[in-house]
Amino acid sequence: MKHLLARSSAILPARIVLSAVTVVALTVHAASAQPAPVKAPIVITGADRRPAASLDGDWASIVDPYSNGFSGYFRNQKFHAGDTRPIEYDFSTSQTLKVPGDWNMQRESLFYYEGPMWYERDFTYQPKEHTRIFLHIGAANYRSYFWVNAQKVCEHEGGFTSFNCDVTAAVHAGANFVVAAVDNTRLADGVPTLKTDWWNYGGLTRSVSLIEVPDAFTDQYDLHLSRREADQIEGWVHVMGAQPGAKVEVEIPELGAKTSAVAGGDGRAAIAMAAPGLERWSPETPKLYKVIVRAGPDSIEDLIGFRTVETRGTEILLNGKPIFLRGISIHGEAPYRTGRANTDKDAETLLGWAKELGCNFVRLAHYPHDETMLRAADRMGLLVWSENPVYWAIKWEDPKVLAKAQSELDEEIGTSRNHAAIILWSMANETPNNEARTRFIETEANHARELDPTRLITAALLVRAEGHTKIVDDPLGKALDVIGANEYVGWYEQTPEGADTTEWRVDYQKPVIMSELGAGAKAGLHGGDNDRWTEEYQANVYRHQLGMLNRIPQLRGMSPWVLVDFRSPLRNLPGIQDGFNRKGLISDQGQKKLAFFILQKAYKDKTVGKPE
Ligand code: GCU
Repeated sequence: MKHLLARSSAILPARIVLSAVTVVALTVHAASAQPAPVKAPIVITGADRRPAASLDGDWASIVDPYSNGFSGYFRNQKFHAGDTRPIEYDFSTSQTLKVPGDWNMQRESLFYYEGPMWYERDFTYQPKEHTRIFLHIGAANYRSYFWVNAQKVCEHEGGFTSFNCDVTAAVHAGANFVVAAVDNTRLADGVPTLKTDWWNYGGLTRSVSLIEVPDAFTDQYDLHLSRREADQIEGWVHVMGAQPGAKVEVEIPELGAKTSAVAGGDGRAAIAMAAPGLERWSPETPKLYKVIVRAGPDSIEDLIGFRTVETRGTEILLNGKPIFLRGISIHGEAPYRTGRANTDKDAETLLGWAKELGCNFVRLAHYPHDETMLRAADRMGLLVWSENPVYWAIKWEDPKVLAKAQSELDEEIGTSRNHAAIILWSMANETPNNEARTRFIETEANHARELDPTRLITAALLVRAEGHTKIVDDPLGKALDVIGANEYVGWYEQTPEGADTTEWRVDYQKPVIMSELGAGAKAGLHGGDNDRWTEEYQANVYRHQLGMLNRIPQLRGMSPWVLVDFRSPLRNLPGIQDGFNRKGLISDQGQKKLAFFILQKAYKDKTVGKPE
């Protein structure tokens, strides 16, 4: 209503004060001219595998710290000399920003900017019969609003998951334009909330495109290897807009496997397909198959690996065999240039460093990463811990906050559920042990299991200490398949040598992943083993940690914090941090620190963790 009223008031010269009657009349008028209701964005599985018209590139932009643009920037008016209208913006003559990309790293003046940013770009389109068109946004941090040809098409909250706005009713033949407002203001009731140990990069941080689909199309599908029957692929395909009885087909040409099924009233068709001779996906053999999913005129070709993951007592079984997860934690920060990572090159550099470290596993912290990272992990053979950004102390008692966390989970799992690399859905990181938090995350975990019963549920828990004993007894552990635990013996507590006399008590007979450990070091700063911030100190922490980890009987993996130094507003020690968290084994400019080689040797010689 605010927008509509603004539109009416923009017709009137700004100096006329709207009387109460006029406002009522305008409100009544506005109400009668109410546009079509804005549809909620939808999840499209494997959106990156569909032919799309990319909208990446330069977008016009207007910085809007007072949220003034909501009064009418979506109309994309242009000012020309002699114009009598009170237009006080014009995208066509404004500065541009690159999409995908956070704005913080594109303009010095935007480095710390938090607030609304307006984007605009033109595109041409030719509507087709029986065809729908979606605006696909890889991610927009944190709240975002979209208009096409001045018609509101959707809005979204959540900074790290992809979503799709149906713009079929808003586009027309020929020239069109899209306007977006992206606001990275941190919210007390956000997910994450006000404080994080990472940079609040704002903007259209991942690719944007237009995706065309038939009226009835496969919006979501899940195809995985049965845990019970060898070489049996099972799952489901959901067809949005399907007529009852619509036929669905799944084919894997390389295996000569094909099956068809009928969608029920809910649009979902159950799939069961024998796939004799299937080569299972694993870090050693990351075999991907072309899988074709057809529904009437719709067809999508995905690249899917097939494997099973489960727990047995304290073991994690990959394809039925115990595995130790030799990992590292990774932020979605671009190597060298910093800012949000969003290209294949970013992904291959980061995961290439993880492979060089000797990893078979990566913890993609603390939020769902770009699809380019997950595709690269599938290709390169790296198992993945994917994480919902329920980070530190969010508003556990607020049902709106739970709904936001669930929605982000829906988008994370719905988008990325067919990546063989992903074996763990993490519900949270380092949350305070209280009843409201436990209820919240138990609800989230149950929701994740309903969405995807084929993977393991975890979370990175805080660990308490009693003297030199570390104790893992957070009640949240009951809701998890795999216990994640964060500890910094040698950095935030004790000396590096303190690890030698630190014992552990884990009150769960479940697999444990030490999801964080480590220390800070400025690359190139050298000194003694106990000179904090030197590479030698960081290496010393790692050396003593490894012995301690081997004394934890349930330990089945580790993802030390962190592969690469990353920007954080919490890290302000001049000459050492300068706005970076320095716990990386590699500096933000790609320099490998001594600790990198300590961990690399331990992974190579398998001197840490149970031998498989
Ligand atoms: C925390 C947190 C990380 C943070 C790290 C650190 O445990 O999970 O996000 O960056 O420890 O203190 O460096």
